This record gives sequence, C-alpha cells and structure tokens, in this order.
Amino acid sequence: MLSIIRTAFRNYLAGQFRKPRGIAGLFAIRAMARHNSYVTRWTIENCEILPGDTVLEIGFGHGLGLLLSAERTNTKVYGMDFSLDMVHRAAHRYKELIHAGRLELACGAVDTAPFQEGMFHKIYSVNVACFWKEPLVELREIYRMLKPGGKAVCNFSEKGSEHSYKFQQSPVFIRFTGEEFAMLMTRAGFTGVQVVRKTGKKHAGHVSCCVIGQKAR
Ligand SMILES: C[S@@+](CC[C@H](N)C(=O)[O-])C[C@H]1O[C@@H](n2cnc3c(N)ncnc32)[C@H](O)[C@@H]1O
Repeated sequence: MLSIIRTAFRNYLAGQFRKPRGIAGLFAIRAMARHNSYVTRWTIENCEILPGDTVLEIGFGHGLGLLLSAERTNTKVYGMDFSLDMVHRAAHRYKELIHAGRLELACGAVDTAPFQEGMFHKIYSVNVACFWKEPLVELREIYRMLKPGGKAVCNFSEKGSEHSYKFQQSPVFIRFTGEEFAMLMTRAGFTGVQVVRKTGKKHAGHVSCCVIGQKAR
C-alpha cells in the first residue's frame, strides 16, 4: 500500500515538472530555476544566437531563457509553453519586454504550434524533450518552423544519467541517449546533427545533453 502511495506521489511530482500548475507547479519551477539555470545558459550558448536572429524557446517554464535570448538578439524572442500558469507568470515578469515588442508568448504544445513555416533562425528547448512521447512529431514541427540554415538545440538529461531525486525515475520522463535523439533529428530532416554533453555541477554522474541540428539552406 505504502509503495503504491509512494509511486503515485512520485508520478504526481514528475507531472508537475512536465506541466507545472498551481502551488506545486510553482515549487517545481522554482527548484528548476535554482538548480538548472546553468543548463539553460549552456543550451543558449550552443544556439549561438546572433543579433537579428528570431528565436523560439519551447517550454520556457520559469522563463530565464527568454531573458537570456533577448539579451543576445535585438529582434524578437518567442516563447511557447503549454502550461497557462507559466505563460501568465512570464507575461507578468517580462511585461517590459512584451510592451517593447521584443517578446511574444504563446500557450500551446509544440505539435500544434501557431507559428508560420520558416519563421525562426534558432529554436531551442531545455528539459522538455524528455516529455515527448512521439518525438518525431515535435521534431518535424520544429524543422517546419525553422528558416533554411536555421538551427535547433534540444537539451535533456541523458538516459543512464544519475539523478538527485527518486521522482526523476518516474515513467513520466522519457529517456534518450544523445545518439538515439540525434538519429530522430536526422529522421526529421535535420542535417549536421551533433551531440554535446555536460556533467552535473553537484553530481558528476548526471549528464545533460544538447543535440544540435540544422535545416539545410
Ligand atoms: C521541466 S520544465 C523545464 C522548464 C525550463 N525549460 C527549465 O529547464 O528549467 C518543462 C516545461 O516545458 C513545458 N512543456 C512540456 N512539454 C511541452 C510541450 N509539448 N509543448 C510546450 N510546452 C511544454 C512545461 O509546461 C514546463 O513549463
């Protein structure tokens, strides 16, 4: 009985990381902002955002990535997240950027993205691909939204990586190796796909992975 309750609780917690809602979602997102911001910074470095780039972040959660991206480009950053709570929170936090026309937020899932074909120079996600049940669907959509020559960077904790908390072993998280994900990106149409890794700040056994691909010109 106790193990059923424990499993249900772990899955509930994991669900709050997948789609943060209410007070529990707020705690989840604060924990991510505290422990994970170095991964967001590293993913954005891998995007190599240039002034003039139009950028999309998928699953921005606490929203740090939106701010970092807006510091690197002088045009517009877009953010899409399917948690309405996260969209409201970021809209409040970054109202100046929104009023200045530098940031636009959308509530929705990546497989139903409301953006035109070929709209973005750079698209990235941090700790989001681990919730995609059919990643080819999402990856094809990302490919569609990129401009020719555009770049996508997908970050996630690698399969086999050590995790600090038990709930991270929940089946809510779908784990890939970098190479498995790279193969999916190639199948979705990306070229020059490469995998880069970073070991954890606190736990050397934790491996974060960015898989980087381009849309041919
Ligand atoms: C684990 S959090 C990551 C937040 C932030 N990127 C970070 O690394 O700290 C996942 C975020 O992505 C959003 N999300 C998950 N799957 C999504 C999807 N298919 N489409 C859009 N947003 C998604 C969730 O609502 C949540 O805000």
